[in-house]
Amino acid sequence: MTGSIDPAAWQQRRTSFGSVAADYAALRPGYPADAVAFLLGPRPLRVLDLGAGTGLLTDVLVAAGHDVVAVDPSAEMLDQLRARHPGVPAHRGGAEEVPLPDGSVDAVVAGQAAHWFDPDAAAPELRRVLRPGGVVGFVWNVRDERVPWVAALGAALAAEARGHEADQGVVAEFARALPADVATHESATVQRVTPEQVVGGIGTRSYVATMTPAAREAFLGGIRDLLAGHPGTRGRDVLELPYRTDAYRLTPR
Ligand SMILES: C[S@@+](CC[C@H](N)C(=O)[O-])C[C@H]1O[C@@H](n2cnc3c(N)ncnc32)[C@H](O)[C@@H]1O
Repeated sequence: MTGSIDPAAWQQRRTSFGSVAADYAALRPGYPADAVAFLLGPRPLRVLDLGAGTGLLTDVLVAAGHDVVAVDPSAEMLDQLRARHPGVPAHRGGAEEVPLPDGSVDAVVAGQAAHWFDPDAAAPELRRVLRPGGVVGFVWNVRDERVPWVAALGAALAAEARGHEADQGVVAEFARALPADVATHESATVQRVTPEQVVGGIGTRSYVATMTPAAREAFLGGIRDLLAGHPGTRGRDVLELPYRTDAYRLTPR
């Protein structure tokens, strides 16, 4: 989904993750177990983690006892995932062309990834690989800007132009294209990080990863200065970075 970004920039951004794969695995937040339980229920299922990246959502799926297969277009991201989860089969591919047989999974889930899928091309693929009665689950972590220093960070990142509304737009497009009924669940997670890890995590955002090296350094320097000067973060060695986790379960009709 391109939103307000032009198509060439969107394509560049959605393929940018390989360049930051190692940092991504180390510096992005994980997902709370209750979000996965909401999406998939209590029984172990055969689950496709689509846009699985380095395997941050895979961690929670595996811990909950699901039988996971991972798909992502980025070879570098999948290298990280394979190192983290040697027992999880991982294939290159995308939502618009899923390298799995028809009716082979009980659920398709995507963490922080569905906004990179083309709903009209992906929806028929999701229906194809799902068994009858299967579900689609999308989940996003969104920085909780009720905390003043997180709001200041959000203002500095405003060019990213993604928020809760953008994610809801993606869900609405998939609900139309599948078609599907939607149920939602909100929970929370906190990342304990050093200020430098906050800076590093922002460096893995696609719109920062695609900057020129000089622009990237200048931008991240501004974030470093913000954290060094803000009353909520000044002088702190470890920060608690809060996220709201929004989970959406789509049940195809
Ligand atoms: C922000 S990362 C999220 C990775 C992982 N799910 C997580 O929770 O950390 C987005 C991922 O979506 C992948 N991606 C981009 N376009 C995609 C597409 N059309 N189909 C499937 N995955 C895609 C990227 O390669 C990247 O690994």
